[in-house]
Amino acid sequence: MNDMTNTAAHDNARDGILTKDVTKDVAVRLRSLTRSYGKGAAAVTALDRVTLDIPKGTFTAVMGPSGSGKSTLLQCTAGLDRPTSGTVLLGGRDLTSLSENKLTLLRRERVGFVFQAFNLLPSLTAEQNVALPLRLAGRRPKRGAVLDVLERVGLRDRAGHRPSELSGGQQQRVALARALVTRPDVLFGDEPTGALDSRTGQEVLALLRGMVDGGQTVIMVTHDPMAASYADRVLFLADGRVRGALDSPTADRIAERMTALAVAPC
Ligand SMILES: Nc1ncnc2c1ncn2[C@@H]1O[C@H](COP(=O)(O)OP(=O)(O)O)[C@@H](O)[C@H]1O
Ligand SMILES: [Mg+2]
Repeated sequence: MNDMTNTAAHDNARDGILTKDVTKDVAVRLRSLTRSYGKGAAAVTALDRVTLDIPKGTFTAVMGPSGSGKSTLLQCTAGLDRPTSGTVLLGGRDLTSLSENKLTLLRRERVGFVFQAFNLLPSLTAEQNVALPLRLAGRRPKRGAVLDVLERVGLRDRAGHRPSELSGGQQQRVALARALVTRPDVLFGDEPTGALDSRTGQEVLALLRGMVDGGQTVIMVTHDPMAASYADRVLFLADGRVRGALDSPTADRIAERMTALAVAPC
């Protein structure tokens, strides 16, 4: 371990699973998370010793200028990328201690993703797209369970439609249902409303907000203060570091902080 602060947690770790009390109310715990690309003079530190906890059942927005490390933070936290040093606990598991196989399983079953591009398979119906993560996990999807998730995003009556027969907002809601069908510990979004007009985007954000109010943990990267205002807390990144946070944010206060961040010296 590169990080002394994590020694106690690491002592409790067995096969990446920590005793309950360590992370009881914590969905994500990052300790000195660092991700560098390249070597020598060309090295870029995309994330620089990020330490934070994200409580279960909360909605966190991550903001910051282009290149500040938002996507890298999301990818390391979700087990899509491995940090250079530091630790990531997700749902009580230390991702940095997991083998490639276990990490793949965790990604499949314990985390959900929505991106700016909906990434639905065009030849499959909405219902088949939503069932896909369960099939990939080797489970036989129960039709009722898949339709229930489509119901939660308001699309039960579109179950038999292919993506080309759905609007952008509807496609993103199918993507949301697909991300939720495995009941993930954390739902991650990287600009999930970036390709939607503002009204349709707000429908998706209201759905996310409702899911958080029902206990789901959501972490979302966005550059849009209006989108971030749906969150409980906004984290501001610059140069790979957390530069501040805003609780119970409004779009106006977020915009002010973003302006201050853009003009602040590095
Ligand atoms: N695969 C990569 N190889 C080299 N540099 C990268 C790679 N991915 C990201 N970076 C660099 O890391 C920094 C943070 O990138 P990123 O996390 O994508 O920022 P953001 O999502 O905030 O725009 C940037 O300087 C970017 O150029
Ligand atoms: Mg990005």
